[in-house]
Amino acid sequence: MSVPAATASTSTASPAVSHRQRTRALNVRQVSKSFHVNDEPLHVLDDISFTVNPGEFVSILGASGCGKSTLLRLIVGLDDDYEGEIALGDDVVRGTSLDRGVVFQDHRLLPWLTVEENVGLGLKNAKLTKDERAKRVREHLALVGLNGFEKVFPYQLSGGMAQRVAIARGLVNRPELLLLDEPLGALDAITRIHLQEELLRIWRTEHLTTILVTHDVEEAIYLSDRIVILNTRPGRIKRIVTVPLSRPRDRLSHAFADIKREVLEEMAIANPGAPARVAYAEDI
Ligand SMILES: Nc1ncnc2c1ncn2[C@@H]1O[C@H](COP(=O)(O)OP(=O)(O)OP(=O)(O)O)[C@@H](O)[C@H]1O
Ligand SMILES: [Mg+2]
Repeated sequence: MSVPAATASTSTASPAVSHRQRTRALNVRQVSKSFHVNDEPLHVLDDISFTVNPGEFVSILGASGCGKSTLLRLIVGLDDDYEGEIALGDDVVRGTSLDRGVVFQDHRLLPWLTVEENVGLGLKNAKLTKDERAKRVREHLALVGLNGFEKVFPYQLSGGMAQRVAIARGLVNRPELLLLDEPLGALDAITRIHLQEELLRIWRTEHLTTILVTHDVEEAIYLSDRIVILNTRPGRIKRIVTVPLSRPRDRLSHAFADIKREVLEEMAIANPGAPARVAYAEDI
């Protein structure tokens, strides 16, 4: 894994909550998944195999409907009805577990609970005393730059702040693997860039193995060590692209643009109906 020398922190959040040693790789082996819709089988994922190394940041990139969320749900353990095997180290994934934290596209905060109570939900099954829980919640709110907002209700937060709470809830169990399903998808460009920096900072300081589902090519390149590009219907791995850029990355650099071109062209080929060649400004 390439650990960044320095990543710009854009918040006043406290430093790392803890130093976590990550030792287990995630192995997705020959995973296929079908649904039944109106008594017809819908083949969504086909023969998906890849490994995410300890501490690695991997994005899963593909068009809408290609099966990204379905794949993430299998890794979370929310759905056991599939062919193939998913394992964290030697442990085959069966059902949800405290070693996997998840953040969904919509923040899914409960409106009748305060920020700290919402984050505390992530500790529902943890064996902790009341004081330990409160301390853990406070630490993780600080980690996402929300100290002072413990008693606030979700309606009193901006969209970006609500997503930070959701990220704190996903992290509060100190998971080994963080699974993110387009957590920044609904945010404006500036907030999104800001939270991308936050995610990188947390990934780096917490030594988190991270999988991010996204359909934003730039986001995938900016954040990831590797990008798994999925085909559509059924979702198959088109290619796994390594991002060889050191961090912090410059979105405006030629090297960044070169990788963006490579990924976009791969995706254009990956999606039937899309142009085989992407047009760029310099082509015109
Ligand atoms: N519970 C379900 N029952 C039946 N079909 C489903 C179910 N969940 C997902 N699908 C179908 O599986 C396919 C993949 O859905 P999925 O949500 O994984 O796509 P996605 O890549 O995450 O798309 P998006 O980028 O729009 O979120 C879609 O055709 C969808 O209709
Ligand atoms: Mg999805």
